[in-house]
Amino acid sequence: MKKPLRSTQWFGRTDRDAITHRSWMKNQGIPHDQFDGRPVIGICNTWSQVTPCNAHFRELAQHVRDGVLDAGGFPLEFPVMSLGETLMRPTTMLFRNQAAMDVEESIRANPFDGVVLLMGCDKTTPALLMGAASCDLPAIGVSGGPMLNGKYRGTEIGSGTMVWKITEMLKTGEMKPADMLEVESCMSRSAGHCMTMGTASTMASMVEALGMGLPTNAAIPAVDSRRRVLARMAGRRIVEMVHEDLRMSKILTRKAFENAIMVNGAIGGSTNAVVHLLAIAGRIGVDLTLDDWDRLGRNMPCLVDLQPSGKYLMEDFYYAGGLPAVMKEIGKHLHKKALTANGRTIWDNVKDAVNYNEDVITPLGKPFKPQGGIAVLKGNLAPSGCVLKPSAATPALMKHKGRAIVFEDIDDLNARIDDPKLDVDADCVLVLKNCGPKGYPGFPEVGNFALPAKILKKGITDMVRISDARMSGTAYGTVVLHTAPEAAAGGPLALVRSGDLIEIDVEKRKIQLHVSDAELARRKLAWKPLPPHSDRGWVKLYCDTVLQADRGVDLDFLVGQSGAKVGRESH
Ligand code: FES
Repeated sequence: MKKPLRSTQWFGRTDRDAITHRSWMKNQGIPHDQFDGRPVIGICNTWSQVTPCNAHFRELAQHVRDGVLDAGGFPLEFPVMSLGETLMRPTTMLFRNQAAMDVEESIRANPFDGVVLLMGCDKTTPALLMGAASCDLPAIGVSGGPMLNGKYRGTEIGSGTMVWKITEMLKTGEMKPADMLEVESCMSRSAGHCMTMGTASTMASMVEALGMGLPTNAAIPAVDSRRRVLARMAGRRIVEMVHEDLRMSKILTRKAFENAIMVNGAIGGSTNAVVHLLAIAGRIGVDLTLDDWDRLGRNMPCLVDLQPSGKYLMEDFYYAGGLPAVMKEIGKHLHKKALTANGRTIWDNVKDAVNYNEDVITPLGKPFKPQGGIAVLKGNLAPSGCVLKPSAATPALMKHKGRAIVFEDIDDLNARIDDPKLDVDADCVLVLKNCGPKGYPGFPEVGNFALPAKILKKGITDMVRISDARMSGTAYGTVVLHTAPEAAAGGPLALVRSGDLIEIDVEKRKIQLHVSDAELARRKLAWKPLPPHSDRGWVKLYCDTVLQADRGVDLDFLVGQSGAKVGRESH
């Protein structure tokens, strides 16, 4: 016999509490037959006007709702904390875990049998997956889709990536402020999230590669009618998933994460995916590590010629065949039997995909870039590891030794980076401290900071940069990120001084600070921790309990699951 649905513990009774549960719901015009034991589907919505990438989600939710009704389910939309990358200070990453807690507790406390997760802007995707994973109900992800390609005076421009270019062009005088205003209007010309292979597009691809979304979820533009169809189909499908008891833990297996890591390499995905997948894996109970990222991504070529590593944008990617075409191309590397949300295996989903444009999605035998994965470097400067994205870096700098120029924090960097008196040349290694999870606080995307103006004016566009920060998925450069432990946690990065020699060797996965152990021990004795950022509220809880980058930056007490056990009544 089938076990009764979770929601019947609210609606399927005849006692006083059940009257309370149903009666107040009826004030929304819900007929009594909706409480007849059909699956109750939560539509978890991150709509917000201050999250512009998700500002079309009220309409998208309607399509999900239609799908749930088509399939005989009972849809109930609910809001959760939204995280808008472009406005929130000091950084959305400070709040990813807070949003995940909101999602987890909202799902567990309410009468849901399954949930549809509406996600778009960078942190909304991992936050919803993390929170839902800790409940482990049937769940399906629907991404909001990328904006249409940016168009500026006959050229295609990509969100984020163009911002970094403009910043440099303004520094060198190549662009006038008046032109800048025109560029910003041309860059964001439709609903949707960043249309480069930045973090949002990467995470939408991860949803599809993990099997948590329907095929083609990653790339359909936000305003393409097929995005609405996908939302409706997801609404239909979640009802079936509830009947099949297809919970997240049946999809999010180690093999699914390994597939996702390989896909991240093949698409030249964001370094931020490293942190987010580690955190999601931690919630569902899969023991994923940084070493898995290096091992599985090491030999995976980057097939997709998209900004920031290449030239095309997500709209082109979708028309070329999107993620199914990429997954078919790398099929021999994938765990083909991994189960997905539509009940089919990942290989069943992609085996008939067609690549319609080999300029955008290159063949595996003739890849766009030979190395697509994330390189994990270790050494005395990063005992727990740090990451670099080879496909976005300069090949000549992948083995490099240089004199450190140290900035103690972001304010120090902003004050001195463009000082004509800064003693810097192109061979130096720029080091930025105190921008990690605890240090900033919140682990911001400042690791791809612009080069000193005097270097840019010489026509030099890249230098080795090392920090404990993240970088935007839309950024590029030879940028070593996520150095762990971070400076604020007393990691060796805190001990670097200007003039020290630093060496990176990406091929050998090494990062070395050429300072003796005895001298480092002396410096450690003199090191003092930063004063606390706050003595109350979320920031205090976060700073007291956040894990380092190599552990996914979740809060230590949130790792794992509490399931979806129904709590006691409130009346
Ligand atoms: Fe939202 Fe880029 S700012 S996805």
